[in-house]
Amino acid sequence: MQQILDYIKTNEQRFLDELFELLRIPSVSADSKYKQDVARAAEFIKTKLIEAGADKVEVCPTAGHPIVYGEKIIDPKKPTVVVYGHYDVQPADPVNLWTTPPFEPVVRNGKIYARGSCDDKGQVYMHIKAFELMMRTNTLPCNVRFMIEGEEEVGSANLGDWIKANKSRLTGDIILISDTSIVANDIPSIEAGLRGLSYVEVEVTGPNRDLHSGVYGGAVANPIQVLCEMIASMKDENQHITIPGFYDKVLELSKTEREDLNRTPFDLDEYKKDLGVEDVLGEKGYTTLERTGIRPTLELNGIWGGYTGEGSKTVLPSKAFAKISMRLVPNQSSDEITKLFADHFKKIAPKSVKVEVRPHHGGEPVVTPTDSVAFKAASMAMEQTFGKKPIPTRGGGSIPIVALFEKELGLKSVLMGFGLDSDLIHSPNENYGLFNFYKGIETIPLFFKNFVELNGK
Ligand code: BES
Ligand code: MN
Ligand code: MN
Repeated sequence: MQQILDYIKTNEQRFLDELFELLRIPSVSADSKYKQDVARAAEFIKTKLIEAGADKVEVCPTAGHPIVYGEKIIDPKKPTVVVYGHYDVQPADPVNLWTTPPFEPVVRNGKIYARGSCDDKGQVYMHIKAFELMMRTNTLPCNVRFMIEGEEEVGSANLGDWIKANKSRLTGDIILISDTSIVANDIPSIEAGLRGLSYVEVEVTGPNRDLHSGVYGGAVANPIQVLCEMIASMKDENQHITIPGFYDKVLELSKTEREDLNRTPFDLDEYKKDLGVEDVLGEKGYTTLERTGIRPTLELNGIWGGYTGEGSKTVLPSKAFAKISMRLVPNQSSDEITKLFADHFKKIAPKSVKVEVRPHHGGEPVVTPTDSVAFKAASMAMEQTFGKKPIPTRGGGSIPIVALFEKELGLKSVLMGFGLDSDLIHSPNENYGLFNFYKGIETIPLFFKNFVELNGK
């Protein structure tokens, strides 16, 4: 333990300088204008893995953005930890709402401000530095593989194929991921589940061209109005989703499981105050923790159509669009829910419009075991560094590839993340605490140590 702290202390500033270098690369996977930058971020990860002591480090091309692979096999008889993370980031828009530019990292009030500081460059970099630490101090107790991808924020479309094609070199015992949150810096926690995702774009077409809203208005369906009505009808007064069959496969938790979940420290008043809302709104009969952890949702992510520029234009538009995401819980299936949505959306469309549903990416929900050796190793490691036993929680976000790791590689994951829900990931002013960054570097080597010891190898 002291050795870990000493190594971090000695290299503290360099660790941060290197992370800043990575944060300066705008590796936005969604926007093709950043393709070269995404590639540059992959090269940066590769260089740092090599410098830290990894072997066979490779930037593997895919049909989209590359995957960086690297490994250190010290003894094939020892356990192997597969570290997964992503070096791509969400778009920084709206850029004018950032206090300082998204790709010019700075530290303010003990936090690193930059796009990707928490999600997930900062957390990936903890792993690379923890690995360096174990290599330099001769304490790496087992084998490790790194699989750092560049398409997580756009649905990991090519990682699945890559995993299938590389099964032989991806053997291991556990997937270790730091891409989630803890409850608070003094309340460590480990997410024991992630929601799945079904994401669709809808298009509603009324008349075959934009019309004068005075000449035609009142006589022809307005697609924006129709779209709003269709969307509004998809939830009832209890915020229950009305798509037939939507809840059919939802795994209901037992009373004790729900009680356990609701023991997670949570202050509703503070939550409301933080968000600037007078009240919360969600599915009747469930608490906020349940609404974000174990219940499926349907959310509008964007809606547009007609004239939105300066001033006014009297137009009855031909088309209206929306992007809609549904978060899924065990045992819902992404393809099934997408189909239920599409069928329902077409069914409720009035004759006066035509509708199209275009599925985007999806992902399956997962629950990770809390009684496994790996979970115990993570729990012990956090207890050693935070001085408090972490509590298992259920995260509302999605990491679609986690279910695939299980399906394709037969490997379970441990979600040992160090972010906070207040880190503003995906939003302007994303940040990551210096405390969290260094705490991660301190905790990861202990996970390795505990995992090997608990495995008895
Ligand atoms: N790291 C997040 C997921 C996350 C955040 C899990 C916080 C738990 C707590 C990940 O990068 C992410 O943003 N995933 C996307 C899904 C993806 C398909 C775009 C998400 O959850 O919206
Ligand atoms: Mn992430
Ligand atoms: Mn993300």
